[in-house]
Amino acid sequence: MMFDILLPTRVLFGPGSTYRLGEEISRIGKRALVITGRRSLAESGQVERITNPLQIAKVETVWFRVDPEPTVDTVDEARRLIHEEKVDLVVGVGGGSALDVAKAAAGLAKVDTPAGTFFGAVPLNAPGLPWVAVPTTAGSGSEATKNAVLIDPERKRKASLRNEWWLPVVAVVDPILTMSQPPEVTAGTGFDALTHAVESFTSRWATPFTTALSREAVRLITQNIYTAYDTGRVRASREYMMLASLMAGIALANAGAGAVHALAHPVGVRYGIPHGVACGILLPYIVRFNLAVAHDAYADLAAASAMVPLTADKDEAARKFVVYLEKLRDKLGLPAKLSEAGLKEADITEIADEALLSQSLSANPRRVTRVDLLTILQENL
Ligand SMILES: [Fe+2]
Repeated sequence: MMFDILLPTRVLFGPGSTYRLGEEISRIGKRALVITGRRSLAESGQVERITNPLQIAKVETVWFRVDPEPTVDTVDEARRLIHEEKVDLVVGVGGGSALDVAKAAAGLAKVDTPAGTFFGAVPLNAPGLPWVAVPTTAGSGSEATKNAVLIDPERKRKASLRNEWWLPVVAVVDPILTMSQPPEVTAGTGFDALTHAVESFTSRWATPFTTALSREAVRLITQNIYTAYDTGRVRASREYMMLASLMAGIALANAGAGAVHALAHPVGVRYGIPHGVACGILLPYIVRFNLAVAHDAYADLAAASAMVPLTADKDEAARKFVVYLEKLRDKLGLPAKLSEAGLKEADITEIADEALLSQSLSANPRRVTRVDLLTILQENL
């Protein structure tokens, strides 16, 4: 057995962990560029949970707000601010969009080339500025990954920039930040985390280290996602969702994803579908497609989640897992087909061609051809 594992340096997990943000940051620098979502932090009523500890620790802050689905130009704007304002670290507070901008802006802080020239593996052998991740959603797992998913406005493509140095120095993972999240955000981000857990579990690059994290993340999500969605302020469910998102993020960073993620990016960018919603719609289709080669793995997840007894027939258990995913998607108010979220028949060949370029496809347990992708998209019309 042989594998590499990439882990965030330091994770502070738990309700109220943001109170430690000031002391953590003041050990790294004095002046921070704080990158947040345009609305989410303010709407959550949790701004003081971020600003108070920074003030107490006398950390100077410059704020930069990003829209959902950021582009590489947004990253370049943040990099300009890093230089103009002479900050010595970056703090990302938000969902995947804010964290990914913070990650790429910090990572590219010491080079001049535009971010848009770096899609794929970024050829840098040294860290940029240190950055601190404070996720406000239980979904993206960006606090644990080396990837920044961004839109290339020229080619209208969503793809990732990645570098092994891009993990945050510290990740402060505080479930309280998700407590007042609206149900539709809980549903979308929760499905993103569930997709990370399921796809990393069946990935061709999974290792015993990652499958342990993926399996436990699936168990925690299946047991808590509906309560978090339906009764938002149940603290335990928020806490377990946040924990699962972190664990699934570490598994994703080390094992990769699969065909859901390969398709979710081109579909999301074309129709403005939130990433987690695209994942939630596609996940049952891809699991059904993979059943023939991965039934044992899905049966394992069904048993781990107490959907079936450990002794259940594997084919039957795997099929129950797909039916569970379909029912969950319906219960959480997600469309059953991509067409209900905007998919047009005229676009499916272009979407399939873009998905074929995705690195995630190579991690999928069953080989996926262009014809397979077209069939899956046809089923979604
Ligand atoms: Fe994702």
